[in-house]
Amino acid sequence: MLLEGKKIILGITGSIAAYKAAMLCRLLVKEGAEVRVVMTPLAKQFITPLTMATLSKHPILVEFFNPENGEWNSHVSLGEWADMLLIAPATANTLAKMTTGIADNLLLTTYLSARAKVAVAPAMDLDMYKHITTQQNLTTLAERGVAIIEPTSGELASGLVGKGRMAEPEEIVAQVATLLNEKKKSLAGKRFIVTAGATIEPIDPVRYITNHSSGKMGYAIAEVLAKRGAEVRLISGRTALACPKGVERIDVLSAEDMYNAAIKEWKAADGGVMCAAVADYTPESVADHKLKKSDDDLTIKLRRTKDIAKELGANKGNRVLVGFALETDNELSNAEGKLQRKNFNFVVLNSLRDSGAGFRGDTNKITIVEHSERTEYPLLAKSEVAAIIADKIESLF
Ligand code: C5P
Repeated sequence: MLLEGKKIILGITGSIAAYKAAMLCRLLVKEGAEVRVVMTPLAKQFITPLTMATLSKHPILVEFFNPENGEWNSHVSLGEWADMLLIAPATANTLAKMTTGIADNLLLTTYLSARAKVAVAPAMDLDMYKHITTQQNLTTLAERGVAIIEPTSGELASGLVGKGRMAEPEEIVAQVATLLNEKKKSLAGKRFIVTAGATIEPIDPVRYITNHSSGKMGYAIAEVLAKRGAEVRLISGRTALACPKGVERIDVLSAEDMYNAAIKEWKAADGGVMCAAVADYTPESVADHKLKKSDDDLTIKLRRTKDIAKELGANKGNRVLVGFALETDNELSNAEGKLQRKNFNFVVLNSLRDSGAGFRGDTNKITIVEHSERTEYPLLAKSEVAAIIADKIESLF
């Protein structure tokens, strides 16, 4: 369920689209939300309180107080209770009042007291929607953090065709879920470099030395860091993956290219995650023509490449540096060695002995190795592993 345990005030205003609020309310409840409905007095002309009370399983609130017994409907406690105030449909009139602070009904006073996120789904005739006043009001509300769920184009109650139809209930629910489940931008203002994928070490213009790395783990980490608001430079060797949204990719081929890019980017970075499978050896010289075969065996002399992580670790300052260790044996002691040698804050260990871990797959089984402790995790999707690593990084800032 998309909205399990979420508390939503559904505000309904006097628009013909109010009939869709019934379906909207039902879908919100179906997705696990607890819904309280507040209607403007005019909204009652478009949909009955009985319908909305039945669907939301709670009495409807319209007036400031109950005329029978004088009991107040507290807009303040309502505003504090909710995770979201969703006004759907939102008329031009209500949007204008929200912009200027007019508080002449319970829904508007609730809006002014709400600490929760606010979303509006405008619904009106096309000319009212296009009007500069409405457009400016929507811009002002958006600048103040109100989420605008855009109306769609189509036939309107007036018989005219254009933009102004309230978004469909399914679409509104999807947008509400995205807004409520959005992780806060906990890494805003931080810059990271992430190395990922396999390097390619040329032998001649045709052949090269590489490895099985798919880049999936590094790409998943770059994606989650960016989603949490960080600026991410993804220094990527060869992969078949698309660059994640909001990430800046720097394409490289050889270990030497990756080293140069990483050293350059490290200066302005707050942290780095070394996910790439970097070649440890590269041909000493690259033939400028395709090597011809002969009857003799061929020997290619390899020389050591530079260790990117070690170099960044030696110039770490107060940055956070995370390494990976892919091992086939003596896993823990090898990972601990890397932690020390490369000055990592922690090492993410995966063993090729675990099925479902390592290259190419979409899952990974990791142990986080720190100076003082080790934490083992079950087999998880690489995106979940990326979130665990991002949480750990956050805890270090
Ligand atoms: O020593 P080993 O290659 O096993 O260490 C793995 C870790 O070091 C990984 O985080 C890897 O990305 C990084 N590394 C590097 N540059 C190298 C070799 C490894 O950044 N030349």
